[in-house]
Amino acid sequence: MVAGDIEFSGELQSYIDEWSKKEGGLVMMLHRIQNEFGYVPRAAAEKLSLISGIPLAKIYGVITFYHFFKTTKPGKHRIAVCMGTACYLKGGQDLLEETRSILSIEPDEMTDDGLFSVDEVRCLGCCGLAPVMMIDNEVYGKLTKEQLPGIIAKYRSF
Ligand code: FES
Repeated sequence: MVAGDIEFSGELQSYIDEWSKKEGGLVMMLHRIQNEFGYVPRAAAEKLSLISGIPLAKIYGVITFYHFFKTTKPGKHRIAVCMGTACYLKGGQDLLEETRSILSIEPDEMTDDGLFSVDEVRCLGCCGLAPVMMIDNEVYGKLTKEQLPGIIAKYRSF
């Protein structure tokens, strides 16, 4: 997809018109784009560059600096594996690898059926339950690798 193939809503377009002239506007505009599409598609970044005159390299510099910007389409169910200190020390990395292995996906990929994507996140705010994973809005704490297949299976059916 290239810049010309992507449509911005009127609201997003006017937001960009307003913020492209302001200091610090790039982060705000990227937030709006991510709100509209669920991630920042390459074509949207290119279109933003065309409209605002901000070089594409600068836009991608910001996208990669802030972990909350996503450049790939999220799955229907978003899995967040916590890699904050408490969770990391209690096996967060193993959970992350096992989750990706069960789903057969690499970082920044979505499963072929579009159902799942997996992100590493920093502290979900419930360190007492470490290691923690979240699927959509549901938190799973004191998690073991053995529990993962059963938990993930629940989400395959809805
Ligand atoms: S470090 Fe994982 S919830 Fe805080």
